[in-house]
Amino acid sequence: MMSEISLPAALSKLPEDAPEAVVSATFFVPHVLEELGFSQSNGEVIPEFDTGKGAADYAVRKNIGDDIFLHTRNNPYMICELKGRDINLEEGSAQYKRAVQQLHKKYLLAPKCRSAKWGLLTNSCHIQLFRKHNKVIHPATPCLEISPETIDTVIETIRQKIENPIKALTVAIYNNKGGVGKTTTTVNLASILALAKKRVLVVDFDPNQQDLTSALGIPLSNGQVYTALDDRDADIRDAIQRYVPPLKKIAENDLGFDILPADKVLVHDIDESDLRQKWKKHTLHRKLAELKDAYDYILIDSPPNWRIFSQQALYAAEVVLTPTKHNNLFSLENAVSVIRDFIPEVQSMKGDATPIALPIFFNGGKITPYQLQEAQKALIEMIKQAKKIQSERPKFDLQPYFFPRYTNARKDLHIFQLPSYANIANAAFARIPAVYRDKSAREYYISLAKEYFLHG
Ligand SMILES: Nc1ncnc2c1ncn2[C@@H]1O[C@H](COP(=O)(O)OP(=O)(O)O)[C@@H](O)[C@H]1O
Ligand SMILES: [Mg+2]
Repeated sequence: MMSEISLPAALSKLPEDAPEAVVSATFFVPHVLEELGFSQSNGEVIPEFDTGKGAADYAVRKNIGDDIFLHTRNNPYMICELKGRDINLEEGSAQYKRAVQQLHKKYLLAPKCRSAKWGLLTNSCHIQLFRKHNKVIHPATPCLEISPETIDTVIETIRQKIENPIKALTVAIYNNKGGVGKTTTTVNLASILALAKKRVLVVDFDPNQQDLTSALGIPLSNGQVYTALDDRDADIRDAIQRYVPPLKKIAENDLGFDILPADKVLVHDIDESDLRQKWKKHTLHRKLAELKDAYDYILIDSPPNWRIFSQQALYAAEVVLTPTKHNNLFSLENAVSVIRDFIPEVQSMKGDATPIALPIFFNGGKITPYQLQEAQKALIEMIKQAKKIQSERPKFDLQPYFFPRYTNARKDLHIFQLPSYANIANAAFARIPAVYRDKSAREYYISLAKEYFLHG
């Protein structure tokens, strides 16, 4: 049942110091949730929803025929965390960070919220929508300030997003250092996700090295990818190849993936300054958007520099996965510039608060306990440096990107490690990703997929 007053009127009537209960009863439930299409009187809204890890303020889902959400209480679609106006939800404030942590770690990742696709956080002064894709949670809007003048537009933007969810998660695999395992990670992660029956597209966006395309024995594109990106009307599907490893059992079930191969025209026939003239920042992003319903994951392998191909890759991505080497200080320092400089630069161009960095991992190389300690020390020092205000650079909190499990109560310095393993390196010559043929390689990359992307 729609309330008699409008959404902007309800917002302007809220007292300046409205506590959570008032925000909830006179604004959020009767107006925001109604406008978003969830009706409390129809049983589509559950307060104090038991997530299995505590009670979330609200869970909502549209009814499906006789399946009334309030009665079955399963498969929530969106989890809402509500605050009173005494809590400051300005992006970056300590209270904002705490509220986001609570919504993400406690509720969205809780056992009974597996089905949830969205998280919504508001105190009626600010509002932010988050998207959940399996285990990955990323912003779907920036943290927006709301007022009676803007509220209609903001809620309409959120409604559009939750009514038209996109299927694929786009991941750029990037470090502006070469030889850290970007291509190896891309190809094996794609294979593991394919073996888990996910629909996967990999994009070889390192046309100079073309390692990904050649590691799979796929012919280079001869202008098809270039044309698809250059011509608004060209169909990018025409440039896609299918990779199925030549192994009987796998081929029978077609547990392979699609690939947009490296295009030789992009290196030989056209130089970067021409491309900069022709392409917009969002050229790759727009093209891949046409494919987002056909895949669960789109993985983009990028070159080891900060030039046009990696900039396009990060712009197209929602999340960035950064392989590093524990014993290579440059690879760690470069990860800092990715997280602290390049990603925010792209975020400000895109305006939807993506891409975000996933925590770094150590790829390849045997790590002794002593070496691990040394690497952790170096990272702790980098965290310390970034916390200081330096002349032009604002303060930055690197901790969640280096030590995602660290809390004040439990000083956990866990960093995910992908071991060095000869069969991973040898696979490039056989042109079959290691995980298809080798049990240990498969286990290593299953752990990687579970660490970042898939529920256990
Ligand atoms: N976990 C690993 N174990 C063994 N060799 C690896 C591993 N990861 C990468 N390599 C090897 O290291 C080299 C560089 O990896 P690559 O993925 O090409 O790096 P990048 O794409 O970052 O330049 C390759 O020869 C690759 O086979
Ligand atoms: Mg590479």
